[in-house]
Amino acid sequence: MSRRPFIAGNWKLHKTVAEARELIHELRRELVDVDVEVAVAPPMTALDAVRQALEGSSIHLAAQNTYHESTGAYTGEVSPLLLADVGCRYCIVGHSERRSLFGETDAGVHAKAAALLDHGLSPIVCVGERLEEREAGRALEVVLGQIEAALEGLALEEVVVAYEPVWAIGTGRTASPQDAQEVHEAIRTHLAATHGPVAQRVRILYGGSVKPANAAELLAQPDIDGALVGGASLQAATFAPIVKSAS
Ligand code: 13P
Repeated sequence: MSRRPFIAGNWKLHKTVAEARELIHELRRELVDVDVEVAVAPPMTALDAVRQALEGSSIHLAAQNTYHESTGAYTGEVSPLLLADVGCRYCIVGHSERRSLFGETDAGVHAKAAALLDHGLSPIVCVGERLEEREAGRALEVVLGQIEAALEGLALEEVVVAYEPVWAIGTGRTASPQDAQEVHEAIRTHLAATHGPVAQRVRILYGGSVKPANAAELLAQPDIDGALVGGASLQAATFAPIVKSAS
C-alpha cells in the first residue's frame, strides 16, 4: 500500500507575521518539484499572512489547535469553521504540549478531531508516551489507549496520526528508527482491528527531534509515512532537507 509521504512543520509559539512570510518565501524557493506533501502550522496570528504567501504553491496550511464548537460565547477560542475560512487544510490536535500544559484530555482530542472532520479539515492527531511510561514498559499501552480514545467511531480516510514520544520532543533525543517503527506498526495494527482496511491508508508521522541528519533513516521505516517537525521547521535550511529526504 503506497502512502504519500507527508512532512509537516509545527512552528509552535514562533514567528511574527513578517518572519512567517520570509520563511514561506524561502521554502517556496527551496521546495520546487518535490513529490512530498508539505504543510506548515504557524501560530494563529500568522495564518492569514501565510495563506497569502502560499498562494499558487502546493504547501498546505495547518493550525496548531482548535475548539470543538463552531461559533458561540467561547472567548479566546478558534473553531474548525474559522480555520477552514482562513484556508487551513489540516489542524494538529492532542499535541503533548497541549495535553501537559493546557489540560487537553483524550475526550477533548476526540471532540476536536470530530469537529474538524465535520468541517472538511484533516486532524493530525498526536499521541505519545512519557519517559517514565516507556521505562515502565508501558509505551504501547499508553499510545494505543490514546489512539483508541481519540479516534473511536471516526472515519479515518482524512485522519493523520503523529507519534511523538514526549521524551523526544525538543530534547535532541530521537527514538531509534526501530523503536519508532515498532510503535507505528502497533498503531496501524490496532487501527486495522478497530477500523478495517482503511488503516493501510492512514499516514502515521513520527515527531520528536527530527533533523536533516536523522530524517532519512526514520522515513525509511515501512510504517513511518512522514514527520511532524518542531524546531527544525523554523528555518528553510533545516526544514527543506527533511522534506527532500522524504521524496
Ligand atoms: P521538535 O522537533 O522540536 O522535537 O518538536 C517536535 C514536535 O513537538 C512537533 O510537533
